Amino acid sequence: MSDTKKFTRRSQAWFGRQDRDGFIYRSWVKNRGIPHDQFDGRPVIGICNTYSELTPCNSHFRALAEQVKIGIWEAGGFPLEFPVMSLGETLMRPTAMLFRNLASMDVEESIRANPLDGVVLLMGCDKTTPALLMGASSVDLPTIGISGGPMLSGKYRGGELGSGTGVWQMSEEVRGGHMSQEEFFEAESCMHRSHGHCMTMGTASTMASMVEALGMSLPGNAAIPAVDARRNVLARNSGRRIVEMVKEDLIMSKILTKAAFENAIRVNAGIGGSTNAVIHLLAIAGRIGVDLKLEEWDKIGQQLPCLVNLQPSGKYLMEDFYYAGGLPSVIRELESVIDKSALSANGQTLWDNCKDAPNWNRDVIHAFDTPFKAAAGIAILHGNLCPDGAVIKPSAATPALLKHTGRAVVFENSDDLHKRIDDENLDVDENCVLVLKNCGPKGYPGMGEAGNMPLPPKVLRKGITDMVRVSDARMSGTAYGTVVLHVTPEAAAGGPLALVQDGDLVELDVEARKLHLHVSDEELARRRAAWQAPKAPADRGWVKLYVDHVQQANLGADLDFLVGKSGSGIPKDNH
Ligand code: FES
Ligand code: MG
Repeated sequence: MSDTKKFTRRSQAWFGRQDRDGFIYRSWVKNRGIPHDQFDGRPVIGICNTYSELTPCNSHFRALAEQVKIGIWEAGGFPLEFPVMSLGETLMRPTAMLFRNLASMDVEESIRANPLDGVVLLMGCDKTTPALLMGASSVDLPTIGISGGPMLSGKYRGGELGSGTGVWQMSEEVRGGHMSQEEFFEAESCMHRSHGHCMTMGTASTMASMVEALGMSLPGNAAIPAVDARRNVLARNSGRRIVEMVKEDLIMSKILTKAAFENAIRVNAGIGGSTNAVIHLLAIAGRIGVDLKLEEWDKIGQQLPCLVNLQPSGKYLMEDFYYAGGLPSVIRELESVIDKSALSANGQTLWDNCKDAPNWNRDVIHAFDTPFKAAAGIAILHGNLCPDGAVIKPSAATPALLKHTGRAVVFENSDDLHKRIDDENLDVDENCVLVLKNCGPKGYPGMGEAGNMPLPPKVLRKGITDMVRVSDARMSGTAYGTVVLHVTPEAAAGGPLALVQDGDLVELDVEARKLHLHVSDEELARRRAAWQAPKAPADRGWVKLYVDHVQQANLGADLDFLVGKSGSGIPKDNH
């Protein structure tokens, strides 16, 4: 009964049929008042919505979707909105990252199973962006991204208060006795005062910038505040544009080329972006079929300057970034390194979109030759403590600690850390290296954002705000410090991190890209023989599937069987 082949438009394999199944496909959709002529072969566009009250950063997505729909109608398309699993960074336990791959499966299967010719991805809070890009990549239809946009700047007692970053700062002030509980709770109501995602250059703003740098959105996507009318205009224009993209057959893989990922890595350096982008871009590349290696983050991006003076590396917030010119202004400054051949969603190259971008504030977006911070891209470390790599963001670190050897103070897992870090009898000083195990993909599970360990109060009381910290965890994109993350293989998978003991000497040398444990191979072999893997966190359900199949951080922490794409074809009718 299938007559899929004679239709050029994918959706017509459903809506174009003049038989029993065509009746079924159209008739139910008509139940909200869709006239028969809407099924005439015009592009059917799915709006993939991560709206949820449990994802406060995406709470305005119903209104945003309405703007997208207007744009789709205006351009002669037929919009159909659908929900997918939403991932709220602040509420989901043990970490939203545990569910990134699950949401990506929802996205992939929802797109493929339905009569869609093109897709609009509505993304906001950290994990929704990679989840939607990963899932859509595995189908590879014409696709455009729209980010929810950052919140307005937080304001507290006449000053700026950045999402996340301010929490990390103030909670250490409370623990060090420099801020009262009352002030702390007052700040809580001042930080987040509008719709939108974190307005620091945390993971959400970084990933919104990656969407734009990859060419997956219209220009301006990264920085327009969520509640600025121009965010609605962007949504409407994206709705118009996706209809054209379907007609041009501008599928995702024509945009997400190797050049696009290389540009994104350069832009991540330019904005001082989150370390989480490393994992997410590796995972997206794995889906679309681009060969991207962890080490390329260092090779392509590390020597590049950070141009953007935004928290957590600097002082301003995303609103200031938008008014200063936003991401196009950064890309223009990167002229000497950007790959000018990379295509973007509007059909122009990324470079053509940005080459005349203005700059309105040089204190917010610096020039390439007088950067905010030099050589600020992400560095990839190797050594006997991380044979498959580890990540550090030098721009968020204390320069004096980038070469440091110290005595390890070891925590077996995050519970152990929370139990003992405030203990006045803990044998620790500021020269020690805090080591945290069992927070990787399998260990946490889901790779928790536990890497920016709090400092011991007795160190904080001396006025010291940073120590070298090493773990297999991630770190919030809004956090900062001399923090070595994503140590691979992770402790729970039997990586050397599992073998570190109190008192071992750990050497960090970022310039040499080295993370070394000063323990002999013989001693490590002895410890390995005595090592026992931690108990599996679950014996059923998603967590078991995840732990059994998740790859290590250096590969993007995707599930092994999700890597790659299988296109949009469906072999069977549903009746
Ligand atoms: Fe959603 Fe920060 S918590 S973006
Ligand atoms: Mg985060």
